[in-house]
Amino acid sequence: MPDRYAVIGHPIAHSKSPLIHGLFAAQTGQDMTYEAIDGGADEGGFARALAAFRAAGGRGLNVTLPFKLQALAAATQASDDARLAGAANALRFDGDRIEAQNFDGIGLVRDIEHNLGLPLAGRRVLLLGAGGATRGALLPVARAGAARLVIANRTAAKAADLAHELAPHLGGVPLAGAGLDGLAGEAPFDVVINATSASLGGDAPDVPAAAFAPGALAYDMVYGKGLTPFLQLARAAGAAHLADGVGMLVEQAAEAFAWWRGVRPDTRDALHRLTVPLV
Ligand code: ATR
Repeated sequence: MPDRYAVIGHPIAHSKSPLIHGLFAAQTGQDMTYEAIDGGADEGGFARALAAFRAAGGRGLNVTLPFKLQALAAATQASDDARLAGAANALRFDGDRIEAQNFDGIGLVRDIEHNLGLPLAGRRVLLLGAGGATRGALLPVARAGAARLVIANRTAAKAADLAHELAPHLGGVPLAGAGLDGLAGEAPFDVVINATSASLGGDAPDVPAAAFAPGALAYDMVYGKGLTPFLQLARAAGAAHLADGVGMLVEQAAEAFAWWRGVRPDTRDALHRLTVPLV
């Protein structure tokens, strides 16, 4: 019997995870299946689906919106990244144990460093937004050796609160929180990451052009939306590198696959298949 894995979310029909993990499994010769499960909109839907999947012998799950917080709550063990993110995007089942991980941040770091070839060590990094996506990115970006991290959010108090909460956990990397209009005293940033949900609504966070250093990387965590308003704004502000989040998606999948199966897939084929030109 092949080992069973799945991604759970709501909605889930458009998830790319079955395609990505199918490619990884074929490439590495792993005897496994990977399906998509809709956890539904009802309260308790996630817990029921989780229990049914485990009872049927399921070995691990990827978890996407809106269940990442519930996935962490269901875990008996959680990694530092998952605990600081307050959310899990991967689960592994071992007897009574439910282990939780959050690979979104490490996926982001691997995409920037390995696929885009831009090491984060010594870089000034600006994260736009103060929700779950920013929370999940902070520790991995700090671990990569960023020189300074700033969170800028439309609602300044949320950025300040998040910075205050997480600053003690970043191994000494300086972290500050501000409003989008409160960046005036900051030097320009080498990397500007859009972790807001603005792109989903065809909008861009109102970040000043002066926030982009010459040669900066502008990274939008959404994928498949082409040149988003944020990436257009960044290009006009002089950003030299533009990227969407498809590489982050593929790299977090590779991390989960390696964690489950003990073998690291080569991500180039999946990246090639999913990458859409930014026009
Ligand atoms: P999640 O936890 O899933 O990331 P969230 O907590 O709703 O979702 O966070 C969404 C983030 O995108 C917030 O930082 C939000 O800013 P506010 O805190 O001011 O609401 C940000 N955001 C959403 N739409 C935006 C827009 N049009 N411009 C700027 N920021 C936006």
